[in-house]
This record gives sequence, structure tokens and C-alpha cells, in this order.
Amino acid sequence: MSQRVAVYRKEHFNSAHRLHSHELSDAENAVTFGKCNYANYHGHNYELIVKVTGEIHPRTGYVVDMKVLSELIREHVIERFDHKNLNLDTEEFKTLNPTAENIAVVIYNILRPRIDQRHDIKITLYETE
Ligand code: NI
Repeated sequence: MSQRVAVYRKEHFNSAHRLHSHELSDAENAVTFGKCNYANYHGHNYELIVKVTGEIHPRTGYVVDMKVLSELIREHVIERFDHKNLNLDTEEFKTLNPTAENIAVVIYNILRPRIDQRHDIKITLYETE
């Protein structure tokens, strides 16, 4: 079995959101989500790391062409979410609470079908204050 190697691509985007659950009362929402529950939205900087693990291609020496991976992330993730209000401007979060956890799952589901199925992918998402 060939060695599997991980490569990482880091990208950034800025988005506004409001965290609010219809399952919770207004008071519970305020306690649970704190500042992120403010009714008029607020912004975050997001740092996204996409990890791709696979075998090194014998001819190129690449696991994946990082330029292609970067373009894929830019086209399908950054352009979709950067400088957007996640609750109001995106289909994905019309009903889904845009927590960092849910954003990471959405990004995984966007990228997974677009990356070679022989590769494992992992999404890491940092949400800054
Ligand atoms: Ni927030």
C-alpha cells in the first residue's frame, strides 16, 4: 500500500450572521448564543482549512493540484459566502442556524462531491470574534 499524504489549503472569508434557534425561547436564545443572537446581525472573519489526504501521483508528485483545489474553494465556497449575510443571502442558511459547526458541514457537503473520491477531506473552520 502506498503512503498517504495530507495537504492543506487555507482560505478566508467574511460573513454576517445571526444565531437563533426556533426551538428555544428568546431568553434561551440570548443565553445560548450571546452576542451572536443580536437581532441586527454582525460580522465574523472565517479561516477555512481544507485538508486533502491521498496518495502521491507518481507522475506529478502531487496528491492534488493546489491551484485547482484553491480555485474549487474560491468558486464554490468563497464566492458563495464572502461578504454575504448567511441568514438572508444564502440558500444554505435560510433555515439552518449558521453556527461554525453547521457552516463546516455545509462546506464539506459542497466540496466532497467535487474532489476525487479516493481522497479523504477534512474541513477546519475558525470563527473569529
Ligand atoms: Ni456570531
